[in-house]
Amino acid sequence: MVTLRTQVGIIGAGPAGLTLAHLLHLQGIESVVLERQSREHVETRVRAGVLEQGTVEILIGSGVGERLQREGLQHRGVQLRFDGKSHRIDFQELVGRSITVYAQQEVVKDLIAARIGYHEPIFFEAEATQVADFDAQPRVRYQQDGASHEIACDFIAGCDGFHGICRPAIPAAALKIHERHYPFAWLGILARVAPASEELIYTYHERGFALLSMRSPEVSRLYVQCDPGEDVNHWPDDRIWEELRTRMATRDGFVLKDGPILQKGITPMRSFVAEPMQAGRLFLLGDAAHIVPPTGAKGLNLAVADVRVLTRGLVEFYKSKKRDALQQYGERCLRRIWKAQRFSAWMTSMLHRFPNEDDFSHGIHLAELDYVTSSRAASTTLAENYVGLPFDTPGLF
Ligand code: APR
Ligand code: PHB
Repeated sequence: MVTLRTQVGIIGAGPAGLTLAHLLHLQGIESVVLERQSREHVETRVRAGVLEQGTVEILIGSGVGERLQREGLQHRGVQLRFDGKSHRIDFQELVGRSITVYAQQEVVKDLIAARIGYHEPIFFEAEATQVADFDAQPRVRYQQDGASHEIACDFIAGCDGFHGICRPAIPAAALKIHERHYPFAWLGILARVAPASEELIYTYHERGFALLSMRSPEVSRLYVQCDPGEDVNHWPDDRIWEELRTRMATRDGFVLKDGPILQKGITPMRSFVAEPMQAGRLFLLGDAAHIVPPTGAKGLNLAVADVRVLTRGLVEFYKSKKRDALQQYGERCLRRIWKAQRFSAWMTSMLHRFPNEDDFSHGIHLAELDYVTSSRAASTTLAENYVGLPFDTPGLF
């Protein structure tokens, strides 16, 4: 078995692993990235697409934002729709910041191209099978082309998503899991049709939530709330458009044109946090440590925020051998994560219909939406969280 030696062994080439590898490279810290899937698979996986301004600044500031600046759609606000009427939350006016719509797989493509461009190791179809000795001299075992290999490293970054091997490698007694499942899911489509609105529209309706988003001036991304156990085959295209039109209808005749559906999928909704996000020299980042329901569009942004904190800790360690920032990694990330969890859970409960809701609950939903859209204080709270709370340190990390 061949053993490779590096400073940081990174498992997973999603937004967390790739951003970490990139920022470390800029600081002269070596890493090896292992990804179980093929390059094509990770570059075409359809996921969310809202970037906080802070995330955009990191991508641009680290030199991978050229296409993002060209193709990303900058949005100054979003709309909340209920009771047949839309209400705009103007982020720029309320908090002086904005968001950018740019698909996650495009961020992934840009980061992979950068890594390959400077010839740093990234192995696709290389599955990590074991992480060991992370209290002393960490090692990662992996399989590639039917053979076993090993990486010896100073630190392991578990960026392997919710179903990865790193979180389960930490003894259960050392982790506290906080979890909430929601009794609904999102059915998402990508359709070749011009978005019916320039801005995202979050809709609350008696039949359930609906969201209009987009990927480009020609491609719309739309979601409808459905049952969690729903079979996507029970949702022929006509039924999806019909349901979207019913939920998004306005009193002034909103028109939602349909178009060919390019992709269809069901996303379960959960809130999840694993504390403390680290064990010895193993660190968990992104979805490996936490999941938010997609209503607040925070998943990718939280992964990038974890990367900043770990990069800072590793830079300090390699410059001065000090471990303080590394030891505080989880604690520092979790302050932001819990606030994003709070915001995402709040947006989710405000905008969805729960099973067996009565008229009273419907009244509360409407009153909350009315309050959020008519009180400047409440709109500002939404805006401040949606664009992303400030980082506690300035700069790239
Ligand atoms: N070995 C190698 N790679 C692995 C392994 C393994 N054993 N297990 C998982 N992976 C890879 C997955 O194939 C995936 O590409 O780890 C990657 C994890 O990436 P993501 O799931 O995208 O997670 P993360 O980088 O934390 O990004 C968080 O992405 O999942 C969305 O909604 C989420 O927006 C959020 C963001
Ligand atoms: C998306 O465009 O995929 C998207 C937008 C906003 C969300 C979730 C997903 O809250």
